[in-house]
Amino acid sequence: MSDSIKNKIEKISKTLEEHNYNYYNLSNPTISDFEFDKLLEELIYLEKDYPQYLTPDSPSQRVGGAITKEFKNVKHKYPMLSLSNTYNEEELREFDERIKKAGVNEFEYVSELKYDGVSISLTYIEGILTQAVTRGDGEKGDDVTTNVKTIKSIPLKLRGSNYPKEFEIRGEIFMPRTEFQRINEEIRTKLIEEGYDEEEIFEKQLKNPRNATSGTLKQLDSKAVAERKLDCYLYSILGENLPFASHYDSLMEAKKWGFKISADMEKFSSVEGVIKYLAKWDKKRHDLNVETDGVVIKVNSYEQQKFLGFTAKSPRWAIAYKFKAARVSTILESISYQVGRTGAITPVANLKPVQLAGTTVKRASLHNAAIIEKLDVRIGDTVFVEKGGEIIPKIIAVDESKRDLFSDSAKPTLYITHCPECNSELVRSEGEANHYCPNELSCPPQVKGKMEHFVSRKAMNIDSLGSETIAQLYDAGLLKTIADIYELKKEDLLKIDRMAEKSANNLLLGVEASKKVPFERVLFALGIRHIGETTAKKLAFFYKNIESIKNATLEQLLEVGDVGERTAQTIIDYFSDKRIAEILSKLKTAGLQFELSDEQLTNTTEKLNDMSFVVSGVFTKFSRDEIKKTIEQNGGKNVGSISGKTNFVLAGENMGPEKLKKAEKLGVKIISEEDFLKMIS
Ligand code: IVH
Repeated sequence: MSDSIKNKIEKISKTLEEHNYNYYNLSNPTISDFEFDKLLEELIYLEKDYPQYLTPDSPSQRVGGAITKEFKNVKHKYPMLSLSNTYNEEELREFDERIKKAGVNEFEYVSELKYDGVSISLTYIEGILTQAVTRGDGEKGDDVTTNVKTIKSIPLKLRGSNYPKEFEIRGEIFMPRTEFQRINEEIRTKLIEEGYDEEEIFEKQLKNPRNATSGTLKQLDSKAVAERKLDCYLYSILGENLPFASHYDSLMEAKKWGFKISADMEKFSSVEGVIKYLAKWDKKRHDLNVETDGVVIKVNSYEQQKFLGFTAKSPRWAIAYKFKAARVSTILESISYQVGRTGAITPVANLKPVQLAGTTVKRASLHNAAIIEKLDVRIGDTVFVEKGGEIIPKIIAVDESKRDLFSDSAKPTLYITHCPECNSELVRSEGEANHYCPNELSCPPQVKGKMEHFVSRKAMNIDSLGSETIAQLYDAGLLKTIADIYELKKEDLLKIDRMAEKSANNLLLGVEASKKVPFERVLFALGIRHIGETTAKKLAFFYKNIESIKNATLEQLLEVGDVGERTAQTIIDYFSDKRIAEILSKLKTAGLQFELSDEQLTNTTEKLNDMSFVVSGVFTKFSRDEIKKTIEQNGGKNVGSISGKTNFVLAGENMGPEKLKKAEKLGVKIISEEDFLKMIS
């Protein structure tokens, strides 16, 4: 019996790894995602029941879930050296001369791209990945094996059989550009829903793929690593008695063992070929899905490498050629100022269009007044624009030699004092970099933005009212404040471009349905600055109706967990505005929920105040949603995943084994449905 289980586990593991290899290394999927997930799930369940058959190279390790408490610092068997750099053709030819002078005359070069990520050293014993260590200081690095196992293109077990018994293979872990953009888009969507403005979002987004890679590898929770799809190119093999004579042949063989080796590697018989390679990739590299910052040039033969040896810091047989950071100069034609949903002003440089790193650049962000002052950038100036790993090009400096002091345009830039949209005088609070337009209630982009937030999914959820329709209705004068949404008439709607009977009906139905949205979401929908979903919930359950929130003093507001001084003051300012009072009164007349429902009230306590729960599995007495609601009604908080800060895991039947393991590892208390009911009874 148990022998057949063992066979089954082995068989599923093998199948999964095969599909994995086809997908991630050959880009040739051989199974649907659904079938893959089903097989993987089966494997996880089998391994849970028969832990004696769980092996370190099991594909289940790729899902993540295991937590590292602290990364062990381990010594590298072979130090991880760096390369010396060259910056132009001449320096590269000098390198070539040095090799010849040392007495190596007949030789080949291998050129590879220099990937910009985090270098890693992988150890394989008997074909199994046993350790993954970061470069660290070159002598010692961090053991990040658990995290590295989640990277799908790194084999946990090698294919074939002619690999050395024990060896190390080194390469670069990186975050593909598309993954970097995907994560930033995800962060952005989430923060917009929570009411953050552009500048704050920019601050919280990933800065560039390299930082993002190193930040991801340092995560203690390997699940978080698995969620960010890192990738890895391998570029050098180390070991005693390697069975190959050259670097190129080794990598070609390593490819057969399942490693991802870049197809951009090329062999040349002289430096001339290398120089052509540099020119080719200087342009072409921008089309790759990975950041590169140069080319690495290596002498191919291992014997010749050995003969040339090392200096204290780097090999004599290899060198890096660094691409010039993509930089151009162009003319700053004008500066425009954008007004965000929260009123934050962002200055944008309009440039004379110029080609840079494969794209046409017309605009660059100038961030805020302080940056404009620091650069002393003036309209008409010739400016240097650079694009690094960051997505938005930057103005690095002004070419002052090109400034015509006698021209009219060479005057220092005066930051705008009034809003370009509504002409209100701008304000800049102390300690803040940004200027704001204070005209929250009638500055067009702010009003439209507030409406978009109001109707969004987590707020009033009127999805029949999209941003385009909002803009049309706003322009037609039919929507001036959020209160007007409840006064829309069908005959008005039909006057709008492209609005047919059916969409008009739909829109009105959506508006009607929103009147049932519970109080805590209405409070969130109002779009009071700094009041995200969680704070809105806390306030709603603490004060129970809008009148009490309105009448609360600053001190009283501070009693609510999550509310700090800044937020409390915003709430007070919000409710003391007469125009707001008018909007709120209209909304109330329209029938929106401005207090907790009777059901919410009878079930509301503070028994679970400041406690956080992860609810997982299937329950017998209540549905999962009912349980989550009960937690909130009693002052507790639902969180999505287990961390050291979680207070309880409320476990139903069939709770995922990974979650259970994680809770146990972190010492989070696991309770049953019965325990929970006792807590609130
Ligand atoms: S070979 C003895 N090949 O560049 C050093 N390195 O300064 C052997 N890198 O830390 C390194 N792509 O992280 C090599 N194709 C490539 C590379 C590469 C990126 C990084 C690596 C290393 C640094 C060298």
